[in-house]
Amino acid sequence: MGTEGAVIARLRAAGCVFAEEEAALLLATAATQAELDALVERRAAGEPLEQVVGWAEFCGLRVFVDPGVFVPRRRSEFLVSVAVGLARSRSELARPVTVDLCCGTGALGLAVASRLAGFGGAGLAGAGAVGGAGLGGYELHASDLDPAAVACARRNIEPAGGTVYQGDLFTVLPGSLRGRIDVLICNAPYVPTSQIAFMPAEAREHEALLALDGGRDGLAILRRVAAGAPAWLAPGGVLLVETSERQAPAMAAEMDGAGLTARIHDDDEYGATVVTGTR
Ligand SMILES: C[S@@+](CC[C@H](N)C(=O)[O-])C[C@H]1O[C@@H](n2cnc3c(N)ncnc32)[C@H](O)[C@@H]1O
Repeated sequence: MGTEGAVIARLRAAGCVFAEEEAALLLATAATQAELDALVERRAAGEPLEQVVGWAEFCGLRVFVDPGVFVPRRRSEFLVSVAVGLARSRSELARPVTVDLCCGTGALGLAVASRLAGFGGAGLAGAGAVGGAGLGGYELHASDLDPAAVACARRNIEPAGGTVYQGDLFTVLPGSLRGRIDVLICNAPYVPTSQIAFMPAEAREHEALLALDGGRDGLAILRRVAAGAPAWLAPGGVLLVETSERQAPAMAAEMDGAGLTARIHDDDEYGATVVTGTR
């Protein structure tokens, strides 16, 4: 059996459903046989493919994904498209200020800002590819509590001209952003604590608990985000969060209660629910 066949067989034995595709990616990533062996063993041990190869594709961009950092999910592309659509519908907005709270790799903020800047991203090669093109002066800020996520987001966002802060939610944003944020996105942890045990092992064992656990009903962090958002949003600015379908009415009520005008958006294709609150 050749190298490729051996890798496919090892991945298949470990339960990887897309063994052929994954083997091709691992072979393309490793420079030496020793490196390939190490990558294959990490994947066979259950580490997410994106962490093993070091990048994920998101909205046509390749973003760096470091070990332990939350892998951006395909369903979150729906939040990006809602954010871009709402910002574009406001013709008076010249260069929307975008902030990504709980940013993880920073993929969502990067995708929103680069699309608003007219930079589609389709067909890009190489992680961190937005860097070269930059965001054309569009302001992008992001923050996360986890130092590993912040380091990863800095690799993705800073070459494009954005800024990443480390700390709890709004507390680390510069005061100059108060009342100025046009697009505030936050894909925070929203899995109820009691449901964590039922998540796939890939997530439970290789993504930080801080990235998954949303408290008793999953909305502990998002409730704080809704309460804090009005002070940071510009007039007409919008907060966008992802929730489960079941959590959405409660989240919308939190936003309404905070003085925002809430709306629930669902998409069957992505299997995603986004709640928006407009100031
Ligand atoms: C579900 S992950 C999503 C990451 C990213 N938004 C994405 O969609 O790929 C949630 C992120 O929230 C961060 N986080 C959790 N609690 C936080 C807090 N109180 N303040 C800032 N970030 C927090 C975690 O470190 C993690 O990176």
